[in-house]
Amino acid sequence: MIANLFNAPLGESEVAVGVGTVGSSEAIMLAGLAFKRKWQNKRRAQGLPCDKPNIVTGANVQVCWEKFARYFEVELKEVKLRDGYYVMDPEKAVEMVDENTICVAAILGSTLNGEFEDVKRLNELLEEKNKETGWDTPIHVDAASGGFIAPFLYPDLEWDFRLPLVKSINVSGHKYGLVYAGVGWVIWRSKEDLPEELIFHINYLGADQPTFTLNFSKGSSQIIAQYYQLIRLGFEGYKNIMENCQENAKILREGIENTGRFVVISKEMGVPLVAFSLKDNSVHNEFEIADTLRRFGWIIPAYTMPPDAQHVTVLRVVIREDFSRTLAERLVADIEKVLHELDTLPARANAKLSVTEGAPPKKTALQMQMEVCDHWKKFVMERRKTNGVC
Ligand SMILES: Cc1ncc(COP(=O)(O)O)c(C=O)c1O
Repeated sequence: MIANLFNAPLGESEVAVGVGTVGSSEAIMLAGLAFKRKWQNKRRAQGLPCDKPNIVTGANVQVCWEKFARYFEVELKEVKLRDGYYVMDPEKAVEMVDENTICVAAILGSTLNGEFEDVKRLNELLEEKNKETGWDTPIHVDAASGGFIAPFLYPDLEWDFRLPLVKSINVSGHKYGLVYAGVGWVIWRSKEDLPEELIFHINYLGADQPTFTLNFSKGSSQIIAQYYQLIRLGFEGYKNIMENCQENAKILREGIENTGRFVVISKEMGVPLVAFSLKDNSVHNEFEIADTLRRFGWIIPAYTMPPDAQHVTVLRVVIREDFSRTLAERLVADIEKVLHELDTLPARANAKLSVTEGAPPKKTALQMQMEVCDHWKKFVMERRKTNGVC
């Protein structure tokens, strides 16, 4: 079903294969291993060295790619981000590809701002490079979130097995696949893309059981839950839910923009989320906003972007199926309350005055985090004094 959703060629001679995993992280480890082994086999057959494999990604990759690179001894070559452009630039990625590149990994729905990377353009550029060099560098798509969004909201967007160099795709069942935590999937375009020697065949369970995993015995509840959701909701059901998430993201986005205090850096097309930063002239910082919002029951992450956009700090709200319009409106109202509170704190009012006299130097992310820590330390000490606890 999932291979079909990703437009795998399912002719008589071609059969996509796949594995259920613990989230996209395990799926990515397995996909990476398959690319590494395939590349090594080819290099050995050509009598070429195969001890320096690398993988090309954007600096915005999720941490599991760094884990893959470190655990499986593959160099991670990251395309740096830049101001206003927070995904992998396909031109730069293809420039970084060399004979040791096992694959280029594109993300469909960057963890940091939900933006889809341009897989179609990457495929075009890589096809040209492969033709010039005689290599056959493939593409993996990390569609952890986008894999269950794009097929329903943007069916004409070509990012999947419709593109010939896309050899494998991962997706998290426990994100927009709508299953509880602990399930992911990786699909290979065809059997040839998954080296047979990585598959173990066991027969002591009564029939041939092929396995390719990094974890071992586990319950089947997530697999059943995914199967249930797919057949219970069907294409239409998923589509309705994703449209609803998109609509609620839009309402939240507009509410945040209307405060006049933030710049929204997520795109309308992408994962239904809102990533936003304070405008440059703000005397507050995103960590203070996140910290104060906790008192209203909202746990909203604030983080800095990876290199070379590390001076940008972002707040991010991911819209799930159960995040209603009412909740979106309540969050905007609470953000307004937080801004008002921060604006009227005496220390802040003074800082504001100094802004009119000359802008203060911009604080680093570390300084901001230290300030938040100091604030909490003072708060805890005060509490201890009041309660008579040493
Ligand atoms: C783009 C991307 N890849 C991989 C992952 C890892 O996914 P999982 O939590 O399913 O292991 C995430 C999770 O946030 C992600 O956003």
